[in-house]
Formats: sequence, C-alpha cells, structure tokens
Amino acid sequence: MPEDINRIAVLGAGTMGAGIAQTCSQAGYEVTMMDLTDDLVKDGYAKIRTPLEKRVAKGKMTQDQVEEIVGRIEGTTDLKGAVKGADFVIEAVFEDMKVKKEVYQTIDVVSPPEVVFATNTSSLSVTEMASVTSRPDRFLGMHFFNPAPVMRLVELIRGSETSDETISMARELSLKLGKEPVEVKETAGFVVNRILVPMMNEAFNLLMEGAATAEDIDKAMKLGTNMPMGPFELADFTGIDVGLAVMEVLYRETGDPKFRPSPLLRQYVRAGRLGRKSGRGVYDYRSK
Ligand code: CAA
Repeated sequence: MPEDINRIAVLGAGTMGAGIAQTCSQAGYEVTMMDLTDDLVKDGYAKIRTPLEKRVAKGKMTQDQVEEIVGRIEGTTDLKGAVKGADFVIEAVFEDMKVKKEVYQTIDVVSPPEVVFATNTSSLSVTEMASVTSRPDRFLGMHFFNPAPVMRLVELIRGSETSDETISMARELSLKLGKEPVEVKETAGFVVNRILVPMMNEAFNLLMEGAATAEDIDKAMKLGTNMPMGPFELADFTGIDVGLAVMEVLYRETGDPKFRPSPLLRQYVRAGRLGRKSGRGVYDYRSK
C-alpha cells in the first residue's frame, strides 16, 4: 500500500519521465530518476528546474522549495541500481515495445517481487509488457499527461492479469500525487488518446486539404471549444512523432480506416519536424 512506498524509481528522464519524477518528489516521495547517459539525466533535471524557477520568478514558490523538490530526486544511469532500492517503479522510456520489454526483463530479476511496475505508455499493450516479467498481476499502466506536474488525470490501465490490489494501490498512489485516477480496460489509445489524437490527426487532414491555415485551425478550436491550445500547438507540444505513433497503434490494433494516419503527419515526421523538441513542427520555434 502507498504508505509503504518511500522511494519511487522513474525510468526515463525525457519530458514525461522528468515530469513524473517531479510530481512524485513534490508529493514528498524520494525519487530515483534513471536514463541512459549523464547528459540525458542532466537534461531531465533541467526540464524540472526551468518551470520551477519560473514559478520562483512569479513569486509562487521559494528557491528553497525548488531545491527541496530537486534534492529529493537522485539521478542515475544505473538501471538495476535504480530499481533495487525502490518500492514502486514507473517506466517512461522510449515508446517502443522491444525497448520496454528489455527494460522489464532487466529490472524484473533485481526488483523485490512485491514491487509494482507501472508503465507510462501512451498506447502500447500493458499485457504484452507484463508478459515478460514474473509479476503480471503487479503490473499496470499509469498514463500521465504532459505537463505531468500540472495535468490532473492519470489513466490506470488494467492489463489482462493486473490484480484488483494493484489497481487499488495505484489509485491510492495517484491520489497521493494529487491526481485524479480513471480506470480504463486495456484498449487501443485508452480514453484520452483514442479521442484526442484522432482529433489532432483530422486537423492535419484539414490543413492538407487547404481548408484553412494552421493558425486559423488552432484559433477556431481554441475559441470554438475553449481548448487551451489548438490541435497544432498541442501536437507540437506533445511531439508530432508521438501523435503519429499513437495513430499507427490505433490503426493497427483496430484495423479501422477511420484511424488512418494523415499523410501530412507522416510527412512532417519524415522531415524531422517533430514539434517543439526539434525546433520545428507545424510552427517554427527556432528563432523564439
Ligand atoms: N511544473 C510545475 N508547474 C508548472 C509546470 C511544470 N512543469 N508547467 C506549467 N506549470 C504551471 C505554471 O507555473 C502555471 O502556474 P500558475 O497558474 O500558478 O502561474 C500553470 O502551470 C500554467 O502554466 P503557464 O502559465 O506557463 O501556461 P499556460 O497557462 O499557457 O498553461 C498548459 C500551459 C498547462 C500546458 C496549458 O496550455 C494546457 O493545459 N495545455 C493542454 C495540455 C494538454 O492537453 N496535455 C495533454 C497532452 S496529451 C498527452 O500528454 C498524452 C499523450 O500520451 C500524447
């Protein structure tokens, strides 16, 4: 149960991993944040520090609070070491089934058997990942949303073998992290991405058809539906490659042509226009 959780290992220090590590630390947990190289771990710390420093500048937080949050996060490049002392593991590594399975095979042998593994996958099969471990009953999806410290939702994904106890433990942990959990059976895209990403995909189809400019499509959706970001601003924020990967899973898993990835989405990814992280997506961020 979460009162027994002291240290959480977060695997991956990218946008989601760093955001999840920050979320756990802000809730008072000791955190180990692991990535493959020192530079990636360093980038993870920068992703945590930058928005917190902005809050200090706005007078919404003290520098001491920032140091406390960052200080509870121990960075490492040692995967086995990261999980050895952890009471709960949240994995947010590269969104690729082969990579994720390798990580789980490696940590399963060193992590105490009672420890729960949670994957932050945005669309891959939790059941398939769990199948390479000795604990498919103590395995689930905990899908956070970007920016993880701000967004209130966590989707709890139940794989075919996930136990009720594991779900209730993750539910309690989510609440301790200040999140609202929603339980979802394993299904392509879960709830949010099943609805949100096809909406973004359709915006790319509209742009390809020349129906309106990117700016006007974003403006229409923001002013017409009160979305905080238009579909293209959001696609650039979450990563155009992430959007394409989700569409490909939806299309492959359902076989339904309504989930066909927009050719423009595919072309942007081929051109390296991945959004904010690559400097250019639908919009250009290089001069900003
Ligand atoms: N850590 C702590 N606080 C943070 C933060 C962070 N990393 N990032 C932002 N904040 C805080 C800011 O300090 C600010 O706090 P105050 O209101 O107290 O001043 C607040 O959050 C809002 O931030 P900003 O003022 O900088 O900017 P904003 O008002 O424009 O909001 C946003 C930014 C929260 C990102 C908002 O635009 C938004 O909600 N966008 C939509 C995000 C969304 O839909 N995410 C889901 C994407 S889908 C996904 O993630 C799933 C997937 O698998 C693809």
